[in-house]
Amino acid sequence: MYELYPYFTNDGSVGLYSPEADDIYHSTYGALTEAYEKFILPANFEDFFKKHNEIKILDICYGIGYNTKSFLNYFFENFEKKLSDLNINIDAIGTDNKFNKISITAIDSDKNLVYLSPFFRCDKKTIFNNKLNFYNEKISKLLNKKTKTKTRYKLNKHINMILLKKIIKTHPDIFEDQEFNKILKNKKYNRYFDKNICHLYEFYKKQGIKYTLLRRLNAFLHNIYYRNLSKSYKKAAKYLRLNEFDFEAKIGDARQIIKEDQNVYNFIFLDAFTPAKCPCLWTIDFFKLLHKNLDDNGMILTYSNSAAIRNAFIQAGFWVGKIYNKENDKFTGTIATKKLELIKFGLSEYDLGLIKTKAGIPYRDETLKLDNEAIISRHNKDVEQSNLISSSKFIKTYRGCK
Ligand SMILES: C[S@@+](CC[C@H](N)C(=O)[O-])C[C@H]1O[C@@H](n2cnc3c(N)ncnc32)[C@H](O)[C@@H]1O
Repeated sequence: MYELYPYFTNDGSVGLYSPEADDIYHSTYGALTEAYEKFILPANFEDFFKKHNEIKILDICYGIGYNTKSFLNYFFENFEKKLSDLNINIDAIGTDNKFNKISITAIDSDKNLVYLSPFFRCDKKTIFNNKLNFYNEKISKLLNKKTKTKTRYKLNKHINMILLKKIIKTHPDIFEDQEFNKILKNKKYNRYFDKNICHLYEFYKKQGIKYTLLRRLNAFLHNIYYRNLSKSYKKAAKYLRLNEFDFEAKIGDARQIIKEDQNVYNFIFLDAFTPAKCPCLWTIDFFKLLHKNLDDNGMILTYSNSAAIRNAFIQAGFWVGKIYNKENDKFTGTIATKKLELIKFGLSEYDLGLIKTKAGIPYRDETLKLDNEAIISRHNKDVEQSNLISSSKFIKTYRGCK
């Protein structure tokens, strides 16, 4: 039976734990905050939209969708502001998309997570993770006390409404999917789901089936509720009219999906489990695939700071830089591009030195078919047989010289 292992993160959004990977999907610091700070803010969309009317994003390892949701939230907030600044009458805007056109392709191997993504709430005011259905030392230490949430970013409810509609449109089988519907109805997950989204889902589900008079009445009542009473729905409808965007969620192994994909993306978010848990999405060979799908002025963003990952990007033909988080004055990830001038924070002498040690030896998967264990065992052999110096020796010497 499919199980979810949810918990509330410190910004009131829901995080998940994976027992198979023995890893958390989301930082306890805040799932939504992490998405904003590691992917959305460093991408510098403000600058991008000064020169472009269209954007294509590839969200690899979509999970429950924080990176896509944060982008949409950020875009809609800024876009709405721009319209009101310009004093444009929103109702006068048709569907001709004279403004921006958004297209997002999301990939994840876990169908249930993709279907569930619009249901997770992001607005818990006080968190108390006293009812976890799993044990993980790191999480328990951090979360076993009652705390007020710290929110820097707020997800507007209409984002989940819009996403739900998009997922239903592209995956109409969602209503018949027994496994998914069972999870959604499971009482133990109730507190993690947004009730309004659950009601909206039921409404769409009823609309889709043959009407009896009673069902028609029910649907009619729901209709009145959502069209006329729910402010959020009105807001969502307004946004939908404002900007019809494309959203497609593809379910499967990202390597195989991207191999077949002919699209060229402006931004690629890579949010796989750590390289030690999921090396198949961090190899030179996978990055070569991404190279073909990245626009010449495009950018790949990821949270990993690992020397092996930075080296893999370089070997795959990219320029590599760092993601700088202004709020915390820290480097929090890696950027890969096809043009050096797109890199704001380059690798330091220390970072480049580390790449030339054993810690910089990249993962390989030439056939793009190896499983994670095989990739790890090949990597271990490469490290064992290498004549490069160890990272600890390098760090010691480097610090000694400074
Ligand atoms: C760290 S989580 C991503 C979190 C996500 N960005 C979110 O906002 O919830 C990693 C995700 O990678 C997915 N995954 C693991 N191996 C994969 C593969 N080979 N192809 C596609 N997705 C994969 C898992 O199902 C999981 O959802």
